[in-house]
Amino acid sequence: MKKTFPAEFADLLTPKGRRILEGRDRELTGALLDPERRFVALQGVIDPRKAVACRDALDAALRDTLVSMEDPIPHDSISGMTMNYMELLPKTVRVRTALLESRRSRSYRAAEAVGLTDMMRSDSFAAFAAVVSGRTLRRKWGIQVLCYGPGDYTGPHNDHHPEEPEARDGYVDMHVSLTMPGVEHQYLVYAKDGHLSELTKVSTVGGVTVYRLPFWHYTTPVVARRGAEASARRWVLLGTFLDAAPGARASSTIVPAGAPGARPPARVATFGSGGGAGRR
Ligand SMILES: [Fe+2]
Repeated sequence: MKKTFPAEFADLLTPKGRRILEGRDRELTGALLDPERRFVALQGVIDPRKAVACRDALDAALRDTLVSMEDPIPHDSISGMTMNYMELLPKTVRVRTALLESRRSRSYRAAEAVGLTDMMRSDSFAAFAAVVSGRTLRRKWGIQVLCYGPGDYTGPHNDHHPEEPEARDGYVDMHVSLTMPGVEHQYLVYAKDGHLSELTKVSTVGGVTVYRLPFWHYTTPVVARRGAEASARRWVLLGTFLDAAPGARASSTIVPAGAPGARPPARVATFGSGGGAGRR
């Protein structure tokens, strides 16, 4: 099978995307160092024709290899209440995921065949997250592929990991959205000043969102265009990056472009082990 995804994320980018990657965009370089700014949603950074080609290759290769991930509202969340107004909602979700942890899984082999795993492990994939977050990141990062179909969603949650020393002070996620034409919309809703009042459309083709977690957010259910339910899927390529430890060796880190000690984004694919951070 032809590897539709380029070996380097950089090769998906438009001139605007390259400027960001190289640390030449004043507004976006280090944008997430501002504690008020928890994420940025970028459009026009991935070449639209390449995004469509990659999306279609991904959909054809992976759609029959996915596994369901489902955490519904607990059945006793209402009947078990003993006091008014004391309801608690844990994170609820319904989505499908490609298992990329095991090299022997069908998803892994399909993702490898279209070039997806190489691209998500390329230096420039992490370098993009590093430059927008403004942080030096650990070279081993987690990769994940999610697929939202009609009615799939994620309920309110904050992605805080207080039990993990490496993540409890915050970490960085980067998502690339590859949405099929059958999707009418899906939104990310997020908190501002203590209210879930803000929203941004995430059902894009080649939109990139970079997050400094934790913060409160949820994703609305995918709504299909009428008659297009069978092909209404939003794919998300997801990288999870931990901050590099202070004093970590340069070889184990990705330094944001423009920062002292930064190297120019690599042009050659690297084959790291991935699977570092990971979360769900
Ligand atoms: Fe989340």
